[in-house]
Amino acid sequence: MSNPQENQFTNLEEWVTSWEKGQTGFHEAKGSKLLQINIDKVLAGRTGVKFFFPLCGKAVDMKWLADMGHTVVGVEISEKAICEFFEESKMSYSEEPVPTIPGAKVFRNTEKTVSLYQCDISSFSSSLEGQFGAIWDRGALIVINLKDRAKYVALLVSLMAPDCRFLLDTLLYNPEKFPGPPYCIPNEEVRNLFEPYCDIESLQEEDIFDEECKNCGMEYLIEKIHLLVHKS
Ligand SMILES: C[S@@+](CC[C@H](N)C(=O)[O-])C[C@H]1O[C@@H](n2cnc3c(N)ncnc32)[C@H](O)[C@@H]1O
Repeated sequence: MSNPQENQFTNLEEWVTSWEKGQTGFHEAKGSKLLQINIDKVLAGRTGVKFFFPLCGKAVDMKWLADMGHTVVGVEISEKAICEFFEESKMSYSEEPVPTIPGAKVFRNTEKTVSLYQCDISSFSSSLEGQFGAIWDRGALIVINLKDRAKYVALLVSLMAPDCRFLLDTLLYNPEKFPGPPYCIPNEEVRNLFEPYCDIESLQEEDIFDEECKNCGMEYLIEKIHLLVHKS
């Protein structure tokens, strides 16, 4: 059966413009409740974990984790989002070019606990920061254009250290009723994408349907958290 969302497409300029116009309804000013609830499953008793935040926006969870003694690397196309993250977190920061990615910059706080790459995620690779002990993917896989999904998944898998614990946040709704992004990622699609490499555990489902969803034509909206680890 064909996917009604397969021809939807968002380009990088549209994301940059959204940030410039302040159209960032996805941003959670108090951080992600679902990450907070499931953090023990990610850490699994480890300290000083190196986290990867693909398509990080200005997620305040990055400061939360850095304050707990972890390190964070994020990738985000909007320089405005990155600068707002450091300014709103009251972290002094500096920027430098990334020699291997034309036009890209990396922004780091003084303590070097948070490093945010301003570039297209498709340019990022393990050659820049090695592999990660944890990944938090919220608002990332669900906004990647369908034609780029498999490549994005291959990148994330390549960034997983052997002990990596990867929390994936997806949305479930009827794709006939809303075009996306954010795209619906049914559980079967999560399995198709990740099962060749990972064991997958469903951790939590949250009903997040509200008036705004109703106005968009949706009938239900579920946010779902999956835990992915390398295949045993
Ligand atoms: C839905 S938002 C989620 C932001 C963040 N993860 C959060 O939970 O608040 C998606 C973010 O990805 C960025 N973005 C979209 N496509 C990108 C790409 N190909 N490479 C890097 N950043 C991208 C956008 O600018 C936007 O900030």
